[in-house]
Amino acid sequence: MVEKTVRLDIKRQDTLNSEPYWEEFELCWRPGMNVISALMDIAMEPVDRLGKQTMPITYDSNCLEEVCGSCAMRINGQAAMACSSLIDKLKHPIRLEPLSRFPVVRDLAVDRSVLFDNLKQVKAWVPIDGTYDLGAGPHIDPAVQEQAYPLSRCMSCCLCMEVCPQYSEPTRFVGAAIINQVRLFNMHPTGATLKHERLSAMMEDGGIHECSFAGNCVQICPKNIPLTTSISVVNGQVMKQAFGNFFQKTELTSARQKPGKR
Ligand code: FES
Repeated sequence: MVEKTVRLDIKRQDTLNSEPYWEEFELCWRPGMNVISALMDIAMEPVDRLGKQTMPITYDSNCLEEVCGSCAMRINGQAAMACSSLIDKLKHPIRLEPLSRFPVVRDLAVDRSVLFDNLKQVKAWVPIDGTYDLGAGPHIDPAVQEQAYPLSRCMSCCLCMEVCPQYSEPTRFVGAAIINQVRLFNMHPTGATLKHERLSAMMEDGGIHECSFAGNCVQICPKNIPLTTSISVVNGQVMKQAFGNFFQKTELTSARQKPGKR
């Protein structure tokens, strides 16, 4: 009986600036295989399709159940999570490439630290002192919890940035995942203490005005986060704050101009 096999064509790159090249692999098929288990098989026996010894493929993965967000890559030209991409559901030969909008570390592993820099930029955290026991957190209305939970499912995979036409070096757009986190932390009673600063960051370079509402982000999100709704909500908050700032400034200017008020 002829053994069923799986062919993978993998784009490889040794360093950030070296030339990429393709290698082909042929593996024994097993039921229920996914892209990560295929990469594990190559790691166990790193030989190419012609039997030539090669280096195991470098890639990121951790949870293997679409929770950690680390295994994002391009599979057959589409941005996807490798651990939840079943071999039997993919067109063969399967082409694997690193995400295209992030610097390659090696092979399929990319540097996504820009996401964490952007999270810092918008203060995407709940401020707590940390020097003493703060006791129980604030009570959160169950209706708010229900709205917040889907937003909290972001796993920092960066697929929304990979497919966004606005995410680029010149725009420095922070991306939909970040805007979603702004919405999430602004909803939290303690997180809201930084709401003003977060929205100010959204008005700066790479902020919400860079979004062109293409909607690719919400289509690709593996966790079905309502990203375009988050963008609209945060856009409304930004507008409100911008108007507030404007009227406050106008009031101050006219108060200064009134005779006797200096
Ligand atoms: S390995 Fe964690 S999401 Fe794929």
